[in-house]
Amino acid sequence: MSRKRVWITRRLSDATLERAARDYDVVINHEDTPGTAQDLIAASAEFDAVIPCHSEHFSADVVAQFADRLRLRIVANHSVGVDHCDLPALKKRGIAVTNTPDVLSDATAELAMLLMLGAARNAVAGDRIVRTGAWESWSPAFMVGKQVTGARLGIIGMGRVGRAFAAKARGFDMEIHYYNRSELPANQAQGARYHRSIESLLGVADFLSLHCPATAETINLMSADRFSLLPQGAVIVNTARGALIDEDALLHALIEGRISAAGLDCFQEEPGGNPAFAAHDNIFMLPHIGSATRETRDAMGFRALDNLDAFFAGQTPGDLL
Ligand code: DGY
Repeated sequence: MSRKRVWITRRLSDATLERAARDYDVVINHEDTPGTAQDLIAASAEFDAVIPCHSEHFSADVVAQFADRLRLRIVANHSVGVDHCDLPALKKRGIAVTNTPDVLSDATAELAMLLMLGAARNAVAGDRIVRTGAWESWSPAFMVGKQVTGARLGIIGMGRVGRAFAAKARGFDMEIHYYNRSELPANQAQGARYHRSIESLLGVADFLSLHCPATAETINLMSADRFSLLPQGAVIVNTARGALIDEDALLHALIEGRISAAGLDCFQEEPGGNPAFAAHDNIFMLPHIGSATRETRDAMGFRALDNLDAFFAGQTPGDLL
C-alpha cells in the first residue's frame, strides 16, 4: 500500500519528525514559516493529511477555495486550541479534524504560574533594574508586590489546563474559585468553589486566570464592564487566547488601578503582541510559549501522529473533534 502523503507545516520536535518520516511520505517545512492561505489551498490537492499548528488558518474562506479534486482527508492539529480552524467548513468538505489535548496541560499551567508570580512580584522591572546596572539602593518600600499565598484565585474555564493550574495553585494555599459551563464533579473540583456566572466569579478574583477556548461566545470575554467587577488591584493571567481580552479595556483597567498587573502569553495580534503594552512594566509578557517544553513538544507531536495513525487505520482518532 502506498504511503500517505503528509505535510508538516512547521518545525516540530526531532522525535516527531523522525517518527513521521518513518511512517509517512512527509514534506516538512524546515524553513518554519507559517503556512499561507495559498499553501493550504494547494495542500488540499496534494496531501492526504496536514499536521498544522495554530499558525495555519483554515478559515471558511480558505476551505471554500480547496481543490474540487480534494485529496486532503484529515487536519491533525499540533495544538489543543482549534480556533484557527473553521470546523463546520472543514466538516462540510468531509475533512476530519483532531487536536492534542491533555499532553500540554502541565506545561501551560506552569507558564500560567510563572506569569502570575512574575506579574505579582514586579519581575519585569526587577529584572531590568538589575540587568542594566540601575540597582543603586534598597528600601523596604522597594518593589512591593502582591502576595499569592492564601489569596483568592478565579479560574475561567475549568477544563484540563484550568484544573492543572488549580492543582499547582493549591501548592500556594490559594482559595480556588471557578466559572465553567457546568459544575465539576467533586473529584475534579477538589474543593474549588463553583460560580454560576462570570460576574459572580470576578467579584472574588484577587487573581484571575483564563483557560477557556476562543469561540464566538468568548471573544472579548474580559470587557471593560467585566474588568470593573474585579477587586481593586487584581492580577490577570492569560495563557489561553488573546481574543479573550479586550486589550484597550485591559490597559484602561491597569492605568486606573483596577488591576495591578497582568501576565500575558497570548495577544489579539500574534506574532507581535500589542505595542501599547510595552510601556507598562506591570505587564509581564511572553510570546505564546505555554506548551513550549521539550517533553510537551514531543508529546504533542506524538499525539498528532497517534490521531493520524488511527485515522488511516480506519479507526476513530482519539481526539476527533
Ligand atoms: C495550543 O495548543 O493551542 C497552544 O496554544 C499552542 O498552539
